[in-house]
Amino acid sequence: MTGGVGFIGSHTVEALLEHGYAVRILDSLQLRVHPKGVPPWVSREAELILGDVSDRSALERALSDCRYVMHLAAYQDYLPDFSRFVHTNTESTALLFELIVSDSARYPVEKIVVASSQAVAGEGEYRCGRDETVFHPDPRPIEQLRRGDWDVRCPECGEPLEPLLINEATCNNPHTAYGVSKYATELLAFRLGARYGIRTAAMRYTYVQGPRNSFYNAYSGIARRFAMRIRAGLPPVCYEDGQQRRDYVNVADVARANVLALENSAADGMAYNVGGGRAVTVLEFARLMLKAAGSDMEPLVPGEFRLGDTRHTVSDISRMRTLGWEPTIPVEQNVRDYLEWLDTQSPTAEYLAEAERVMVESGVVQRVTSR
Ligand SMILES: NC(=O)c1ccc[n+]([C@@H]2O[C@H](COP(=O)([O-])OP(=O)(O)OC[C@H]3O[C@@H](n4cnc5c(N)ncnc54)[C@H](O)[C@@H]3O)[C@@H](O)[C@H]2O)c1
Repeated sequence: MTGGVGFIGSHTVEALLEHGYAVRILDSLQLRVHPKGVPPWVSREAELILGDVSDRSALERALSDCRYVMHLAAYQDYLPDFSRFVHTNTESTALLFELIVSDSARYPVEKIVVASSQAVAGEGEYRCGRDETVFHPDPRPIEQLRRGDWDVRCPECGEPLEPLLINEATCNNPHTAYGVSKYATELLAFRLGARYGIRTAAMRYTYVQGPRNSFYNAYSGIARRFAMRIRAGLPPVCYEDGQQRRDYVNVADVARANVLALENSAADGMAYNVGGGRAVTVLEFARLMLKAAGSDMEPLVPGEFRLGDTRHTVSDISRMRTLGWEPTIPVEQNVRDYLEWLDTQSPTAEYLAEAERVMVESGVVQRVTSR
């Protein structure tokens, strides 16, 4: 398991141990995610190798005698260090196959499950109400966002498009270097897996939530941003108009999905959306978190937006359901779990302030300048 010290990885390690696997973890303890070193949740039953997934000798050590690989280590951020996404996420996938193909006796790997992302879908799928034409839109132009016009518009008639659920077969249009790195990861896994007889599956997680989601990393997302502000006595800040639709899935459900995809041969060669199955707007999410925290504050909607954000992204999880999987934990519980966990940690508001400062200074977060 690469990235097994991380959020999804550590929960998946526990699920694998419960299923009777012997688990070896390769993790570099990326500083942005684990600034305090090895976190206490790393299972003693798993072997931990500290090293980088793009370092050949570390990967050789970690892979030796493994029958299965879960490749979850990744660089994730909003920062414009584009080459790092490809280097860490995609190149490491190629290296994984390179080693396995070079010496199948030493690396008898039968199946590889790679962590992908909803980011592969980009803006997803939309329909024009006028003539039912379906589009996979490009990112909204920045000039449009600066005017505070948030809708995804029809490239032909200019009217707002109606969002559809994201499905794996047609939604492959990543907009960010991270999304491209994940799509390339999938393609490498599927193509090389098919050519060399190694079974593969790719898991396109949506917004995964739950305990252990690093609050040091800006990429950790909405639960972290909102919860840390609320605990600092500040209202959550929603980007755009807060009406963006998203879906959120609990990490326990994700760990189960990972093990299912590993064990089920029906999953071979397939990409799976792993999502919450329910659309929730950002504003609704902010209110859910305020309610769970017992706060009577109201969310703020100051007209800020983040470059690279999509408007509406809700995944169709019917393909994952064919494996007998169903998300079982509602978003209300995710929010409670996260707050409870945050309260057992000692994050300080300075992490949040620092992450927000970097995003503003690097131009990732911007403000509406004209209406
Ligand atoms: N959390 C989400 O909502 C989400 C959504 C979509 C996809 N994903 C994907 O799921 C996977 C796991 O994400 P997570 O949320 O658990 O992230 P995380 O940051 O909590 O865990 C990632 C782990 O990988 C390790 N790592 C990073 N770079 C490494 C490198 N070069 N070599 C070895 N280890 C390295 C980190 O130290 C960390 O322990 C990633 O591939 C991510 O892209 C996550």
